[in-house]
Amino acid sequence: MVSLGTSDVLVNPLGIGTWAWGARFVWGDYSIPDLQAAFDTSLAGRVTLFDTAEVYGLGRSETLLGTFLKAAGKKGIIATKFLPFPWRLTKGSLHRALQNSLDRLALEKVDLYQIHFPIPPISIDTWVAALGDVIDAGLARLGGVSNYNVKQTRRAHALLSDRGLHLTSNQVQYSLLHREPEHSGLLDLCRELDVTLIAYSPLAQGVLTGKYTPNAPPPGVRGRRYNRETLLRVQPLIDLMREIGQAYGGKTPAQVAVNWVICKGALPIPGVRSARQAQEVLGALGWKLMQDEVLALEQAAEKS
Ligand SMILES: NC(=O)c1ccc[n+]([C@@H]2O[C@H](COP(=O)([O-])OP(=O)(O)OC[C@H]3O[C@@H](n4cnc5c(N)ncnc54)[C@H](OP(=O)(O)O)[C@@H]3O)[C@@H](O)[C@H]2O)c1
Repeated sequence: MVSLGTSDVLVNPLGIGTWAWGARFVWGDYSIPDLQAAFDTSLAGRVTLFDTAEVYGLGRSETLLGTFLKAAGKKGIIATKFLPFPWRLTKGSLHRALQNSLDRLALEKVDLYQIHFPIPPISIDTWVAALGDVIDAGLARLGGVSNYNVKQTRRAHALLSDRGLHLTSNQVQYSLLHREPEHSGLLDLCRELDVTLIAYSPLAQGVLTGKYTPNAPPPGVRGRRYNRETLLRVQPLIDLMREIGQAYGGKTPAQVAVNWVICKGALPIPGVRSARQAQEVLGALGWKLMQDEVLALEQAAEKS
């Protein structure tokens, strides 16, 4: 188990992302029984952290999560997010957005409240102050940010420290195919400040599971991002992931991809849409890649 930031909230070093729960535009159709089964399977595997956002499916993800959570006796650790839309101009809009999220989640308090993006015109300072206020008001246990760069993370951390609070997390894209947090120094900074780096899209939106190939790209908008050429370049990496997984009793590329993130000291939140997918990502826990395998994967990823 690991702590979120410096807090006493302990979680397995794996959470579950719920963007696809209700967000048809990017992810296509969904089945509520399948999502419920994904939720239950995760909890049964002692993976308790669920990440959502007010904008996922325009609130649908939070509503579904709230329903599943209630049925399970509220056992999860819930992280949601505030989006600083450019028309949100006052500090109070964060408080109101959180209240709406709590209503959808049917909770009195969220475990982790995150500022989704550093979007102008309102300054980071204003939103971080508002985040501190909702923690002080008891509506959020912990506060985090998302998509903040090195400078913005330092600033958010300093602002919360000044009022006796700790920046718990920064949620950014991080996977074998997106290693910007290493190159920018963000991963090192998070380590230095005891801020949990929460890794989103750790499966590169399904590509690192190996199920998408040049002849069978992902459906919809994902297929534009991960097109035939990209998928061709990724195949040697997928082959290596399969080969390395064999040494661990047949771990799959998805499990190797998630385990790699854990080995880097970040907390991955793969999105899952069924019990089968949840069960598979749970298989990323309880073992660890060797350092030479981590390096070999990175070398293969750099060529893709
Ligand atoms: N803060 C932000 O700005 C931000 C941005 C993006 C995401 N996120 C968060 O991060 C979470 C994860 O990121 P993500 O959903 O973009 O991408 P991801 O975790 O890299 O990929 C998730 C997708 O991979 C496929 N998949 C998952 N497990 C699988 C398995 N075992 N076998 C085969 N396919 C599997 C599923 O899609 P298919 O079955 O359709 O292939 C699933 O929806 C999101 O849910 C959200 O909570 C945050």
